[in-house]
Amino acid sequence: MTDIFSLEGRVALVTGSAQGLGNVIARGMKEAGAKVVLSDVNPTTLQAAAAELGVPGYAFDISNEAQVTEAVAKIEAEVGPIDILVNNAGIHKRNLLIDMPVENWRKVIDVNLSGAFIVGRAVARGMIARKYGKIINIASINAMMVRPNIGNYCAAKGGIVTLTKSMATEWGEFGINVNAIGPGYFLTDLTKPLSEDPEFDAWVKSEVPLRRWGDPKDLVGLAVMLASPASNYISGQTIYVDGGWQACL
Ligand SMILES: NC(=O)c1ccc[n+]([C@@H]2O[C@H](COP(=O)([O-])OP(=O)(O)OC[C@H]3O[C@@H](n4cnc5c(N)ncnc54)[C@H](O)[C@@H]3O)[C@@H](O)[C@H]2O)c1
Repeated sequence: MTDIFSLEGRVALVTGSAQGLGNVIARGMKEAGAKVVLSDVNPTTLQAAAAELGVPGYAFDISNEAQVTEAVAKIEAEVGPIDILVNNAGIHKRNLLIDMPVENWRKVIDVNLSGAFIVGRAVARGMIARKYGKIINIASINAMMVRPNIGNYCAAKGGIVTLTKSMATEWGEFGINVNAIGPGYFLTDLTKPLSEDPEFDAWVKSEVPLRRWGDPKDLVGLAVMLASPASNYISGQTIYVDGGWQACL
């Protein structure tokens, strides 16, 4: 049987991949045979991560259209046409809605939602011309189940779920699959303020049926599947990787 999960020879761009979930997904895609390209807004951590993995790294801000257009053209000229895009970069600016400065609302929507649109569209233009592409947007369990303090983030991630459907609807005829992954709570820098709080840590472990936080490696199998021929008839879906959390009250 040919390996339907192989990414051999495919160019895969992962945004926000200097660290955290994006970095682990990029590693997994490299192991599956992809020519991986890292990218991040932080050039220092990006260069270190790219050197460590032995792959190219391109610094750009996903919410800046001019930077995105330039970077995508440069990657396609220097590495090759992008076959796989993982829209992973994301941030938090935590406040209760009642106190949230409007700039914190706008910044999180701008990066977490508009960034996926801007990079997705820039990469999809080439994919449409080539009639092939796999786009994976990183949503969150918070698209479905919200918590106080992160109303901006939850709105952005809810938007990712419907943006995924819109991209799948408009770009399907060009051979592009678009899906989203909704992680539960994973141990990364983004969730450090939560995992270092003993009460929150105990709450996660008591609520998640699998009784633990997600390990970033837990996302690799699904990410590789959604980037590979194994998912050729799956599009517009958000698949949650949450240790079973959404199954129970
Ligand atoms: N960690 C979790 O539990 C969890 C759960 C659900 C969803 N997510 C989502 O997964 C994604 C990755 O999260 P993480 O936990 O690895 O976070 P992280 O903070 O460890 O890594 C995010 C990376 O994105 C980069 N980045 C931030 N803004 C950027 C921008 N404007 N342009 C380009 N790069 C930018 C950062 O420099 C950083 O390297 C995010 O979209 C996040 O919302 C994470």
